[in-house]
Amino acid sequence: MIKFPLTRINLDTVDSTNNYAKKLIREGKIGDGVCIIANEQTQGRGRLGRIWQSSEESLCMTVAFKHKFSEGLTLIVALGLYDALSSFSGDKKLMIKWPNDIICQGKKLCGILCERVSEYNIIGIGVNVNNKYFDAEFAYKATSLYRLCGKETDKLMVSKQIELALCRSFTTYGFELSENVINAYKPLCANIGKNTESIKGKGEAVDIGNDGSLVVKTAEGKFFTVNSGEVIVNGIY
Ligand code: BTN
Repeated sequence: MIKFPLTRINLDTVDSTNNYAKKLIREGKIGDGVCIIANEQTQGRGRLGRIWQSSEESLCMTVAFKHKFSEGLTLIVALGLYDALSSFSGDKKLMIKWPNDIICQGKKLCGILCERVSEYNIIGIGVNVNNKYFDAEFAYKATSLYRLCGKETDKLMVSKQIELALCRSFTTYGFELSENVINAYKPLCANIGKNTESIKGKGEAVDIGNDGSLVVKTAEGKFFTVNSGEVIVNGIY
């Protein structure tokens, strides 16, 4: 159950907005959906158990709502984020790195961490908005709206645009993976046509499967699918 506009919760500093959403779930306080925004996170979490570094320059938000599990959610949310952030990136073309990183010029602009607790979906969104510089270890793989456009953007405006875009995505596609979702996603997917490497092996990413997986063709002409984990793409990160 999700009703827009969402109930907004603005926090100054929190460990992780996703953790905060879990606390609200435990307390039975999600109602028809919440949007939690923190000015700063001290223990931001990324996909695959990684740390997500954030600062006051970046946007940390989590949307949480009650709904049955859907493996399509990740791609549907990525389409929403692509739309929302494209409205701020000017002539810089964004793409989606499978499954749900929003990237530009081969670098990451936004990461999404979808989690599931009992009957709730927790969608954590981290956007590099006004970041001027990144630590050496991230510099080659991260970008921000500031670095792309050369000007500051209001984080609140970005969060509102994301909420609107998620509303549009859910209205257009619903919550289930469908042909429409895959048809919209595929042309935006930066992996397609590129050599990729994952724990499953190497090859050219050629398609998105009906279950949202990445379909890879090996040099020997065999196909396999990647459902989770890290995918390294030639020319990206
Ligand atoms: C990734 O690309 O690894 C996903 C990063 C998700 C980061 C966001 S920031 C807001 C929310 N709170 C967290 O602890 N993580 C997500």
